[in-house]
Amino acid sequence: MGEYHIIGGRRLSGEIAVHGSKNAILPILAACVLNAGESRLTNCPNISDTLHTIDILKEIGCTVKCEGSTITVNSAMADRFEVSENLVRKMRSSIIFLGSLLTRFGAAKVSYPGGCVLGLRPIDQHLKGLRMLGATINDAHGFLNCTATRLAGTDISLDFPSVGATQNIILAATLAEGTTIINNAAKEPEIVELTTFLNAMGADITGAGESTIKIRGVNRLHDAEHRIMPDRIVAGTYLTAAAMTRGDITLTNVSDINLRPVIAKLTEAGCTINTKGGKIRLIAPPKLNAIQLKTQPHPGFPTDLQPQFAAMLSVADGISIIEETVFEARNKHVPELCRMGANILQVNNMRTSIIEGVPYLNGSNVISHDLRGGAALILAGLAADGKTIVNPSSHVTRGYESIEADLRSLGATIIHTT
Ligand code: EPZ
Repeated sequence: MGEYHIIGGRRLSGEIAVHGSKNAILPILAACVLNAGESRLTNCPNISDTLHTIDILKEIGCTVKCEGSTITVNSAMADRFEVSENLVRKMRSSIIFLGSLLTRFGAAKVSYPGGCVLGLRPIDQHLKGLRMLGATINDAHGFLNCTATRLAGTDISLDFPSVGATQNIILAATLAEGTTIINNAAKEPEIVELTTFLNAMGADITGAGESTIKIRGVNRLHDAEHRIMPDRIVAGTYLTAAAMTRGDITLTNVSDINLRPVIAKLTEAGCTINTKGGKIRLIAPPKLNAIQLKTQPHPGFPTDLQPQFAAMLSVADGISIIEETVFEARNKHVPELCRMGANILQVNNMRTSIIEGVPYLNGSNVISHDLRGGAALILAGLAADGKTIVNPSSHVTRGYESIEADLRSLGATIIHTT
């Protein structure tokens, strides 16, 4: 079990490129099953979730070639529609394979993903959409056994703009008979990214990024190439790290369009941010202002940056309020921040944090319970007096290629022991 060791107090400065997006590549790798041919993906993030998804592709019979940040998938010989339980347990987002396996094979068997530290993580909207497209789904003995003699387009209204449910429905509707309309669809940039890739394969999808998406079923898809978009959450994590260390950093290979709600809140906290030519520069103030923020589906403030902002606001000047509305239990980082000297009161079923900023945090041994919570604790270590150990590192390596190398290149004192 690896650990991150951080010596705080260093100001971050310099320039860094942001790697490809975890939440973009996972559904795109699932989509590679649909064309029964070759897909070439560039700017792929080298993270454990990518490797776990590649294991699933290989398990169903695809061949996968990895060369640096380029992944080539050939799904022509894929012949299995079951995703083994141990792979789903490693990565609950494997549920995204339901839509593509059902489309390709008329059947799919995936172990029930279950909850995680963020909450129950139900999949009712996924199952509702797939059933409306014609799938028969039995969930027994911890498995989802799905069959579909034919998938037929229909109008689907989601109760909540679920990212995963929107993606699963798109994957199941792309080759279905007729047209599917998704109302109250998720509008995250990763939805746009998935449909851009599918349309490059010959799909006919419009409206991605809006709350109504239309998918006209086509008969087949062909080979395609695609460059994975930069990871907006990794970008936001590094901007937050600079903000809380009085830093001055520039991110390259990023799109500020996808970071507008984050840039707005960093500006409110007193940072100066310039964006031009695929770069984002942040200059932090000597002391951050307290702010209020509420997480919401895109284009609201992203829940995946809420823990990092909690760490940042722990050392801001004044009282901040953070309300987490997307996940019911995205707060396991709070007790660990308090262990470091943060002054945080949790109310409203622990979905709201009232944070009274302190002059500095104290380096401590803290536990990482999930991916973004672990990243938040690393950031807290950067702003702490003394040494912080964040353990284990396995959550963070799911979504950050090498956060220690990136932060070190910006002047941080951090190592990753494995
Ligand atoms: C995706 O998860 C991301 N993961 C999450 O990122 C991200 O936090 C989330 O979208 C919201 O933006 C990937 O893309 C792999 P949801 P997903 O379905 O699809 C409820 C990270 O750190 N819900 O939009 O699971 C659910 O319980 C991860 O990179 C239902 O009630 O998110 C949650 O409260 C964490 N029924 C809310 O919706 C359903 O059928 C958001 O879930 C589906 C979801």
